[in-house]
Amino acid sequence: MSTLARIKELEAEATAAISAAADTAALEELRVKYLGRKSELTGILRGIGSLPPEERGPVGKEANRVRGALEEALECSHEALAAAELQRRLEADRVDVTLPGTRPVRTGHLHLITQTRREIEDIFAGLGYRVLDGPEVEHDFYNFTALNHPPGHPARMLQDTFYIDPQSLPDGVRNEEGLPPGPRDVLLRTHTSPNQVRAMEVSEPPLFVIVPGTVYRRDTMDATHLPMFSQVEGLAVGEDVTLADLAGTLQEVARALFGPERETRLKPDFFPFTEPSVQVDVSCFRCNGTGKLPDGSRDGVCKGTGWIEILGAGMVDPNVFGFVRDGRYDPERIQGFAFGMGIERIAFLKHGLPDLRIFYENDVRFLEQF
Ligand code: PHE
Repeated sequence: MSTLARIKELEAEATAAISAAADTAALEELRVKYLGRKSELTGILRGIGSLPPEERGPVGKEANRVRGALEEALECSHEALAAAELQRRLEADRVDVTLPGTRPVRTGHLHLITQTRREIEDIFAGLGYRVLDGPEVEHDFYNFTALNHPPGHPARMLQDTFYIDPQSLPDGVRNEEGLPPGPRDVLLRTHTSPNQVRAMEVSEPPLFVIVPGTVYRRDTMDATHLPMFSQVEGLAVGEDVTLADLAGTLQEVARALFGPERETRLKPDFFPFTEPSVQVDVSCFRCNGTGKLPDGSRDGVCKGTGWIEILGAGMVDPNVFGFVRDGRYDPERIQGFAFGMGIERIAFLKHGLPDLRIFYENDVRFLEQF
């Protein structure tokens, strides 16, 4: 066969192979096979010098034409195949953003006390109360004096209160009253009640607020006492807010917290800043107020009484209104009720827990259950 004929044959063979190639890897093999250094065509071009002189021109020309044509065909196919391959890869790697995400191995959640606090906040928000915040480091004035604790009241003594700096008057001047500490001393609040006067100082009546927060007492720690715990203070003041409103409001709250069947009762109590003062009990949610469990044994949650104390409350003592700056709360014109509930105690009762200390031991086996 003449060299020219062989070149034509190579062209036909290579062109057919190129158009049949399935992917860019196959194309690369064909490029090496037909145009590479060891290919037949390259060999022909290299050997032109040894051909008879009259064949050199036509063979060289034809071989170069075919080389150019094959390069073009390869490039053309490469473009098409590479585009198809990219398309396939994009399709395979596509992320479906509508699929649910992958859960992290362990997610945290809110502490039971925070959950309970928010539940209480939601209940009061539904009743139209605003949620306020107040300082944990407090003046003796707001914590005690403005709440009608006379000097010498035992609650002001060091054994109940963490004083930041007893007798913290400027220039090292001694406490005006000597011990117990006086109105200008600084302490960790022992209850959220200082926010009664604080709330009234920043808002005109009528006023419906709750103030949740942490409080501190120099208590020994045992199953039912913690040196740090949480309360929610409530204050409702207007021209005609009565003890009946207090009873109705707290009945609603008890039912929202412990179930729609619950009853509440008020018992006389004493707080220096409310008059009259009451203790609010809710009928026991465990034994349904009977004091007995289905098997006839005594219910430990209510200690067999059928009632559980949930908070302290009362009508705001007129003296407390008198401590609000600028006399904006005139006890001749307005009246109201206040209450304070312990958040740990509510959570403790709701979940039938054995010991208050469990809240702050940070044992995940406990925390994970809620
Ligand atoms: N501050 C009181 C306590 O800590 C509770 C209370 C609040 C009582 C408001 C009456 C009114 O025990």
